[in-house]
Formats: sequence, structure tokens, C-alpha cells
Amino acid sequence: MPAPLITGWGKCLPPAVLSNTDLEALTDTTDDWISTRTGMKERRVSHVETSDLAAAAGREALAAAGLDPEGLDLVIVATCTPDRLVPSAAALVQQKVGATRAAAMDLNAACSGFIYGLAVADQMIRAGAVRRVLLIGAEKLHFFLDFSDRATSVLFGDGAGAVVLEEAGEDGGLLAFELGADGTAAEILCIPQSGTEGFPGTERRARVQMEGPTVFRRAVEAMGDSALRVLEKAGLGLDEVDLFIPHQANLRIIEATARRLGLDASRVMVNLAAYGNTSAASIPIALAEALEQGRVRPGALLVLAAFGGGLTWAAAAY
Ligand code: ACO
Repeated sequence: MPAPLITGWGKCLPPAVLSNTDLEALTDTTDDWISTRTGMKERRVSHVETSDLAAAAGREALAAAGLDPEGLDLVIVATCTPDRLVPSAAALVQQKVGATRAAAMDLNAACSGFIYGLAVADQMIRAGAVRRVLLIGAEKLHFFLDFSDRATSVLFGDGAGAVVLEEAGEDGGLLAFELGADGTAAEILCIPQSGTEGFPGTERRARVQMEGPTVFRRAVEAMGDSALRVLEKAGLGLDEVDLFIPHQANLRIIEATARRLGLDASRVMVNLAAYGNTSAASIPIALAEALEQGRVRPGALLVLAAFGGGLTWAAAAY
């Protein structure tokens, strides 16, 4: 059967910029520390909700695909920061973009969510259950940050990226994928009391908590190893990779992973200086920018890899 292909892509970055220098006024940090330890210079902060960012990116992807929203069968929003638990961000997007016929669901695998969603969408199309899917990664992470905590508040940003997947191609598409999780390490990166465990009787808001150095080490291992395994599954070699698009968590994580894979900088997509870590949105935003910059030609081999809360990890050869 024909392979599902990405036929459209888009992104939405809110206009408000929070620079490293701005953060110096909010917490005990410096532009120099953030730049040298993470590679980040600025990030975006959204004044609208996650589903608004998602819908804007989704509309752009639909326009690029030349597809009427009523042609969609399924909307998936990968997010760990939905507007509400009910309805899902995907249901809100379905209404906002006018995808009147589509089913809608959220998928939470934190920063690995977009690749998880890519696998779900691809496999549902291949199974014949749906024909056209709008897959979006969208986050409004700043809502869950404590701006007095310098260890976490400098790392994250808001944004959304989207793709349309259609039963379209003769070959290509998703060649291999791997999805993984280790729930025993859940506490090293989490947003406690953000769900049913709550903050009874207080106005306190849930905040991101993270053991940074442990996450760093496990991210390099998991992204590098899963990228190698998907290439092996696809019967392809590292020399054939045109562009590696990693989750944009930290420049040092990306450089260490690329070194592990033996990929030079010309084959690695990096855009975190402008946006920080946008969790599930980071890979689709980076993919959209790589396409805009002409770094992805027809027939190119892409390898995507991500790591995040859960712990989760995922990789794809596309
Ligand atoms: N500004 C200034 N100093 C800081 C800051 C800051 N923003 N943050 C930490 N420091 C200090 C620490 O207090 C420490 O000081 P000390 O030596 O006096 O105790 C020193 O800097 C070193 O701290 P480390 O935590 O060891 O710094 P490290 O080099 O490991 O960098 C970082 C920290 C950037 C968080 C890194 O560990 C990292 O990127 N980890 C992975 C993060 C990540 O990817 N998380 C998200 C996954 S995505 C998801 O699922 C949501």
C-alpha cells in the first residue's frame, strides 16, 4: 500500500520574546551562563492558549498541503500543557480549524510526543483506519515555570509545529520508528500536582521539576542509541542521513549526541537559540524551519530523535 507522506507543514511562534537578559531580572542567572551551558539566547512566551498556537500552526500546514480542513479524518495534538484536561487541546483545534469530520485526541509523551504522534498517525493510515491526519506538537510551558527557579525557568519556551500526513506516496514516508519509556525514572523530570493529586485548598500552581544533569546524561544515551536502532531497522547507514533533527533541549546534549553518531554540524538541525526547549513542539518547529531553509530536499533521509518526561524517548527514520 502507498506510504503515508508529510504533505504540509507549519509553525506558530508567539511574538513576545523573553531574552536571557530579561531573565537576569527575574532570577539569579546571567546571559553568559545560559548561553554557554545551553546555547539558548531567547524563547517565546505566549499570551494565548496552547490550542490557539496549535490551530495557527495547523492552518499553515493545511494551507501548505492544499487541503480543506473538512478533508481531515483525525487531529492529534502532542502536548503536556493542554488548555484544559477536558476537552482535549485536539478537540479545541478541531473546532478552531474547522475539521468538522475529524476525530480528535491529545497525546502526552512530553518532549517525545511528536515522534509518538508520527508513529500513531502513520500506523493508523497504513491500517486503513484514517486517510488524512493533522499532527501538531504544541506547548505553553511558561505557565508551569517558577521564574525564581533558575535551574528550570531559563530552559523552556512556547510554540507549535504541525504536519499533515496523507495516504499519498508511492514509497518513502516513515521507514522505521522506536518508542520507549522508563516510568521508574518518572521523578527526575516532572510537573508534580498538575493533575488529580492537585494542590488541595491552595492557589499554588504546579511547576516543572528536574534533575538536570541526570536528564542530560540519559538524553544523550537514549537519543543516540534509538537513532542508531531505527537506522538499523530501516537497513540504512549513518552516511546516508541527510539531516538529523533532534529535540531541542540543550546545545550540549545535541552536540554530544551528534558526536556519538559521528554526524558533523552540517547534518544537524539546531534552532534552540531562538526558541529554547518547546517540548513536543520542538521537532515539528525545527522540521518546518529546515524545510523553509531548503535543508530538506525531496527524497532526503531524515532522522528524528527525542527524549523527555516520563521518562520517554523516541526516534524515527523518515
Ligand atoms: N544560571 C546560573 N547558574 C545556574 C543556573 C542558571 N540558570 N542553573 C544552574 N546553575 C548553577 C547551579 O546552581 C550549579 O552551581 P554550583 O556549582 O554552585 O552548585 C552550576 O550552575 C552547575 O549546575 P548543573 O545543574 O550541574 O549544570 P549543568 O551544566 O548540568 O547544566 C542544565 C544544567 C542546563 C539544566 C543541564 O543539566 C541540562 O540541560 N539538562 C537537561 C535538561 C533537559 O533536557 N530537560 C528537559 C527535557 S525535556 C522535557 O521532557 C520537558
